[in-house]
Amino acid sequence: MIADKLKNDINNASWIRAMFEEGEKLRQIHGADKVYDFSLGNPDYEPPVKVQENLKKLIAEDTPALHRYTSNAGYPDVRSLIASRIAAETGVPITSEHIILTCGAAGGLNVVLKTILNPGDEVIIITPYFVEYHFYIDNHGGIPVRVPSGPGFIPDIKALANSITQKTRAIILNSPNNPTGVVYSREVLEQIAEVLKHKEQEYHSEILVISDEPYNKLVYDGVEVTNFMSVFPHCAIVNSFSKSLALPGERIGYIAVNPSISSVELTMAGMVFTNRTLGYVNAPSLFQRLIFSCLDEGPDTLEYEARRDLIYNHLASLGFSCVKPQGAFYLFPQSPIADDVEFVKRALKYNLLLVPGTGFAAPGYFRIAFCQSQQTIRNSFDAFTQLAKEFF
Ligand SMILES: Cc1ncc(COP(=O)(O)O)c(C=O)c1O
Repeated sequence: MIADKLKNDINNASWIRAMFEEGEKLRQIHGADKVYDFSLGNPDYEPPVKVQENLKKLIAEDTPALHRYTSNAGYPDVRSLIASRIAAETGVPITSEHIILTCGAAGGLNVVLKTILNPGDEVIIITPYFVEYHFYIDNHGGIPVRVPSGPGFIPDIKALANSITQKTRAIILNSPNNPTGVVYSREVLEQIAEVLKHKEQEYHSEILVISDEPYNKLVYDGVEVTNFMSVFPHCAIVNSFSKSLALPGERIGYIAVNPSISSVELTMAGMVFTNRTLGYVNAPSLFQRLIFSCLDEGPDTLEYEARRDLIYNHLASLGFSCVKPQGAFYLFPQSPIADDVEFVKRALKYNLLLVPGTGFAAPGYFRIAFCQSQQTIRNSFDAFTQLAKEFF
């Protein structure tokens, strides 16, 4: 009963899933502690204490109507709070009317794309990119246009400019980035904004910058994270609490739209409508309430930074070439052989689960998700050392 196209999609999108299944097999044979699973971006530790306590309080205090439908956009006070934080940070006059609570960033991205795309509209994505983007774009009749990033995985401004056409409706940017961990500087964002402004004038069009930023609280080395709202007049921020509060299974996030976009009221009405009709209906009500009391909580970035240093330093000492990530929890080293799929298969021999760059439209690389304990990372060192000996 499955559609032909879907059969094809499943076959082409199976890398992370394939590694997960390999991992299950290896765990059964060798025991969980002998398998080093760096395949999934699933935070390994519990949400911050305040998040856990407030969740218990919400339930224990018999909060009224806690489990009912909410409005399709979400509770007004939660949306107001998010808007006031963005307005204070950027000076943009954004209000609760420009915020929609969503089922994670994945839900938010689908809502935005469904709302803005006409069939055949193009959406630019920068390679390497989060593997789901092209499926989300395709879900809503859009055409993904892949533009390779430049040195250091920073967007290549010229290539980007050359890829914009009359049909370009949006560009998805993801900083801090999955899979590279790279954080785009304000300077780079301003260069992109300049290109977009000229292209919008040339084509008499409006190009929406969709900032997919679930990792924006996960940064290291004191690096600055620029709020896209302060750089791009035509932008929609898509954020979530999956990574920042270690709540990926609870499906809670939001969309924030810059009021400077054209027909903003109608567009927001479109997003509220699509949030409903895509079947999300509303973001989980319990977690909307939780976010209200925990909006300023964040991850333990020092712990993640220590993990980043451990794994990065070990791989660098073995001869792997890699951009040092300043955000998210991924490392994206170059594969020592051109065939990254073969390399990842060879890693399985040492119970190392990695994901080939091919899965992110960037063959020749591999991804390590370091959302694992420092102990697990240390335990994996010998396996990486043995693997490296095969190639260097
Ligand atoms: C870049 C990026 N965008 C979106 C998502 C989806 O996040 P969520 O769990 O909030 O839907 C992920 C999840 O790994 C991601 O890495």
